[in-house]
Amino acid sequence: MTPDPLVAAAADARTRAFAPYSGFLVGAAVETPAGEVVAGCNVESASYGLTCCAERVAVFAGVARGLRRFARVAVVTDTPTPTPPCGACRQILWEFAPDAEVLLANLAGAVVRFTVRELLPHAFGAGQLEADASSKRR
Ligand code: THU
Repeated sequence: MTPDPLVAAAADARTRAFAPYSGFLVGAAVETPAGEVVAGCNVESASYGLTCCAERVAVFAGVARGLRRFARVAVVTDTPTPTPPCGACRQILWEFAPDAEVLLANLAGAVVRFTVRELLPHAFGAGQLEADASSKRR
């Protein structure tokens, strides 16, 4: 079956992952409500903690392009079952893609679908900052 183009974009980006330390290659792609697609891959560092996941690379590349809202997200790994985004990436998806559908796929063609709201229930976001009763930012 022909893969969803967003999954194909994530799979293509995965081939450019820089993951010499973990050997775990991840590709991601985000799509705006208008259908613009931006992809990313994980980028590791010899200083391991500086590594950035594919999902955040894709979102940040989109933001740098001037995009602020994403309606769909795809993540592709070569694993028996598709890989869910880490906690840090879920928080960034909440910032820019709170209503998005997330397609988790593997190279064998399995696709599992979630929403960002399902992946990050009870999220912390701008609403909490705005609701701060003692805020001096007003
Ligand atoms: N990684 C991602 O790119 N996305 C995820 O959702 C999980 C983990 C990367 C970070 C690191 O380069 C490697 O996978 C192993 O954790």
